[in-house]
Amino acid sequence: GERLDFRTSKQRLLVVANRLPVSAVRHGEDSWQLEMSVGGLVTALLGVKEFDTRWIGWAGVNVPDEIGQKALAKALDEKLMQRCIPVFLDEEVVHQYYNGYCNNILWPLFHYIGLPQEDRLATTRSFQSQFDAYKKANQLFADVVNEHYEEGDVVWCHDYHLMFLPKCLKERNSKMKVGWFLHTPFPSSEIHRMLPSRLELLRSVLAADLVGFHTYDYARHFVSACTRILGLEGTPEGVEDQGKLTRIAAFPVGIDSERFIKALELPEVQDHMKVLKQRFAGRKVMLGVDRLDMIKGIPQKILAFEKFLEENPNWCNKVVLLQIAVPTRTDVPEYQKLTSQVHEIVGRINGRFGSLTAVPIHHLDRSLDFHELCALYAVTDVALVTSLRDGMNLVSYEYVACQESKKGVLILSEFAGAAQSLGAGAILVNPWNVTEVASSIGYALNMPADEREKRHHHNFKHVISHTAQEWAATFVSELNVTIVEAQLRTRQ
Ligand code: ADP
Ligand code: G6P
Repeated sequence: GERLDFRTSKQRLLVVANRLPVSAVRHGEDSWQLEMSVGGLVTALLGVKEFDTRWIGWAGVNVPDEIGQKALAKALDEKLMQRCIPVFLDEEVVHQYYNGYCNNILWPLFHYIGLPQEDRLATTRSFQSQFDAYKKANQLFADVVNEHYEEGDVVWCHDYHLMFLPKCLKERNSKMKVGWFLHTPFPSSEIHRMLPSRLELLRSVLAADLVGFHTYDYARHFVSACTRILGLEGTPEGVEDQGKLTRIAAFPVGIDSERFIKALELPEVQDHMKVLKQRFAGRKVMLGVDRLDMIKGIPQKILAFEKFLEENPNWCNKVVLLQIAVPTRTDVPEYQKLTSQVHEIVGRINGRFGSLTAVPIHHLDRSLDFHELCALYAVTDVALVTSLRDGMNLVSYEYVACQESKKGVLILSEFAGAAQSLGAGAILVNPWNVTEVASSIGYALNMPADEREKRHHHNFKHVISHTAQEWAATFVSELNVTIVEAQLRTRQ
């Protein structure tokens, strides 16, 4: 039938995500400093400009007092391109919902890492109270959405923090247009089955009109979880429950590539590039940029680099690995352990292969600002993305966007969603196989210019033609169409 295209009108879009694009740091009673939040979700959604957007989320800070809450809400509303509306969560909810259920249970399970090894029993014990807090937090998000909702708005819920939200929203207003998108992998139904809350989570996601994933595989896993665990019927369109169809589809995310390409022309970025080139003159530079998260395979990456040095002593003073790892979710014990583990490995390898004048690994526990990041992407010879699992991985896209002149090599984990789009241009590796990654490092460092050019060109074409803007426009347009089709069906 005829397809409707809603992309031309400036539609109101309520984005609901746990994390706002800025996180707040308190300065005095009613004054706040806003810092950019880090992560793929924020990067993707900040690239979306076509809609009249309100962004509802948590500002990453506990604000118990009303004066502070009002001041923060005002600062968020005034300061940004996309208007932000805060959801206030108290410390206990954050502890149980964000640190606990989201980041200690759902995150590692969805990335096939399993429950934290040392406190598996404690996790099992606290499961119910954490899930209760999760539902409570989702209700708080729903309250704020309800307060700001206007008829005709599209409400787009994001990520594993808010799987309970579609149901909360539809219970309050069945006419609301609700979409839900997952930024992580959705695991095999065999993994999802382990969750004591498996039924409730699936059912509440299915309350949405449209459910989206980065890849076809994740969508397929979700559908088979619904058929095997809920006994529902999967159709080519989605999942059907008592005559109600929930559309399920893949919408691979992208970046705002133009923003990166344009930034490379800026004098401040060029200055950073000059400094970096001087600093590492005579050496090849490999780059890692990640949140310091267990899914990123940072220890595995560093061990592979060690193996490469071990096997290629002639490269020792001629190559350096820059690993920029911004700390994340630092109240979760697993993340604390990872930090000390990485520091220990880096120290050992630098002790072993370093000289008085140079060390092989520069590891920074910090985030870089946008200009520094672009400069680094542009001047480095190889990027190493070794995620053990990753929904998409936008760092790989950003690297490609900044490499038009240098044509550097991307080494990419086959377990990142991006492997499906950048696979032909990147060197794909199994990050668990340190020997394979080490030899890929050698291959990348020695790759002839014409092969680099060909590989880069392939990826560059993809990155500039699959943008964040296009991703959001397609999702929202599909959501509108889904609702019109559902209305037509009920009229028949
Ligand atoms: P994730 O969402 O798991 O963090 P992605 O690779 O999809 O993984 O997205 C990460 C985003 O965060 C990218 O936009 C990247 O530029 C940014 N980022 C990650 N690490 C850093 C860092 N150390 N400094 C600055 N930005 C970072
Ligand atoms: C991933 C998740 C996002 C999250 C980001 C940063 O990209 O999919 O939902 O915002 O990591 O993590 P944080 O816990 O700091 O929000």
